Amino acid sequence: MTRHLRVDGPNHDDRLDHMAQGVLGQPLNRLEGPLKVTGRATYAAEARPRNMAYGVLVQAEIPAGKVLEIGDAPGALAVIQDKRMIHYAAQGQAEKAPPSGPERVEYMGQAIALVVAETFEAARHAAQNIAIRYAPETVPVIPESVTPELPPKKQSATGDLDQAMRDAAVTVDQVWHTPSQMSAAMEPHAAIAEWDGGHVTVRAGLQMLSSNRKQMADALGIRESKVRLLAPYVGGGFGSKLGINAEAVAAAIAARELNRPVMVAMTRQQVFDLAHRRSETRQRVRLACDANGVLSGIGHDVLVSNLPGSEFSEPVTQATPFTYQAAHRQIVHAVSRIHRGCAGSVRAPGEAVGVTVFECAMDELAEAAGIDPVELRLRNIPDAEPVTDRPFSSHKLAEALRDGAERFGWSARKPSGQRIEGEWFIGMGMAAAVRVNMLVESRARVTLHQDGRAIVETDMTDIGTGTYTILGQLAAEMLGLPADRVEVRLGDTDFPPAAGSGGSFGAASSGNSVYLACEEIRSQIARTMRCDETDLTLHDGMARAGNVSRPLSELIDGQITAEGHLQPGKTEKTHRQATWGSHWAEVAVNRWTGEVRVRRMMGVFACGRVLNEKTARSQCLGGMSFGIGIALTEAMEHDPRDGHVVSRDLAEYHIPCHADVPELEVHFLPERDAYVGPLQAKGLGELGICGAGAAVLNAIHNACGVRVRQLPATPDKII
Ligand code: MOS
Repeated sequence: MTRHLRVDGPNHDDRLDHMAQGVLGQPLNRLEGPLKVTGRATYAAEARPRNMAYGVLVQAEIPAGKVLEIGDAPGALAVIQDKRMIHYAAQGQAEKAPPSGPERVEYMGQAIALVVAETFEAARHAAQNIAIRYAPETVPVIPESVTPELPPKKQSATGDLDQAMRDAAVTVDQVWHTPSQMSAAMEPHAAIAEWDGGHVTVRAGLQMLSSNRKQMADALGIRESKVRLLAPYVGGGFGSKLGINAEAVAAAIAARELNRPVMVAMTRQQVFDLAHRRSETRQRVRLACDANGVLSGIGHDVLVSNLPGSEFSEPVTQATPFTYQAAHRQIVHAVSRIHRGCAGSVRAPGEAVGVTVFECAMDELAEAAGIDPVELRLRNIPDAEPVTDRPFSSHKLAEALRDGAERFGWSARKPSGQRIEGEWFIGMGMAAAVRVNMLVESRARVTLHQDGRAIVETDMTDIGTGTYTILGQLAAEMLGLPADRVEVRLGDTDFPPAAGSGGSFGAASSGNSVYLACEEIRSQIARTMRCDETDLTLHDGMARAGNVSRPLSELIDGQITAEGHLQPGKTEKTHRQATWGSHWAEVAVNRWTGEVRVRRMMGVFACGRVLNEKTARSQCLGGMSFGIGIALTEAMEHDPRDGHVVSRDLAEYHIPCHADVPELEVHFLPERDAYVGPLQAKGLGELGICGAGAAVLNAIHNACGVRVRQLPATPDKII
């Protein structure tokens, strides 16, 4: 039996708050934690099928043009050039752009062929020595060097912003730049492909198996039913594994050609070249307000880039339309077609850089208007989504701002430059956190056995986020079992297709499908107990209704299996759905070196129901650390001559390390969102990064009076 639900209206049911097991929301440790720290949770590259050959990707040495000839590779079993592999190498995520020919190069470092040999060393040696003849072309690699496209759907204007700017008592009109950024997941991309007749099994680092399966079938020209993907453990994705990449397609094509298993694992440098980047952004923010800080105008003009023909463009202004009220508004979204490598989704696409810059602009406006930055925000929170007038499904920004100010001790903040400790300027900064909420179609199968064990199966992934744990907790709660009686099986396309991990929608979407499957099982038990499902209490393997109490083992004949199917519905249109929060930072800026140390940082977040307090908190710790990275360290440098990535490893691409991240404090505001499915939970994974960097940058200004608008704020830009 399958229980379907389309989210067409509100769900005010509070049953999950009163269930007998009391395990949902608890800060349980990650179920797969022991496997991960003992190396038993193997990643894609760790399998060793018999007779496996090794493939190494050959990368283009020109920024654009044609490959005329690929020479011999002594010692290799095969050199494979295939247009579908090249397409996925060039475009990253599956897109509608027509596949380039097998000889086309779109960016420096693009995969153009695969060399396969008996050992990894032999393959690498052959790949490094292969002679390639090109017909190079001169192409633009700098965003400002070309006339950008203005996709019509991405522009919007209401009222007259120019007039509002002229009439305003106080204005801000500044330009910020953020550099290309890289997902930089711990596990480099890798895939092992193995054919059995016309069926292929690919073990790979992937985030969204059901769509990845379609992409793989398309790349190989076979039916979806012939493709099985396995990704039970993934060492982080951050967007880079949302679509299939060159290594997975190459492994599958090579394995078919050689009729034996083939592994292709990228080096860290190849990940930087081949996994998509977050586009650099140029953002002009215009703000106009009256003497009381009430906004009359908001302008957000952005320039991003991508390869010609790539559909994705960093949705920088995603939260701009609904965060603050103002009668006069304008968004301009421009895209430069340049050859810097594919741009795609990286860690909160859009808001990560968009909210960060916008919240810096709000800090500048607060200073110019002589109004406290928290107060300025509070004065401009809309009652409904501006322009469309849609209600918010829930709204917690004001509460997050007030609660955060209180907890952080905001009232102790001094005017800029007035707190000095030895050679350090000390400052405090804050920012709002906003991220759109999404729900994605998802299925899960749950089986309850007579002996009081349950199994959850879905092709959902756990990319280090805690999916195994939260889905187990949820099933345990619904079925009245201790958490350790539930086994969760993920990351296999043989299981029902789920949302996958992306866009912060994974936990809520797949969680709702598990909820529905369990609800169906509960209904079946209730029928046997002759009661309404809502009157049924399940606890520690016992079913109770009224004064009748019976063990599950008596009620179930063998096992009960049910599937849950969740689909987003009308509430996506009727309500503006978002998650909310506030960021707070205290920094020290060295008077002589310009070095910035973050001393403490705090975030207050509202994301609907929290499914596991520990995994939820960990998501926020990660996001806030990335915020430190955006503000202070992260930058992918491109060579201005050919666009190639200069900082292509973790020594050159600076992600904050432990010494850069102080003790971080995370608080959740109690919230239930009725418009996002029966679980009443929203996406959280990416909220922690949205605006976090702005709190740090605003704290730098409060410490020493410097505004850095060209990120990251390295010491050279501060002294
Ligand atoms: Mo995310 S950047 O949608 O994995």
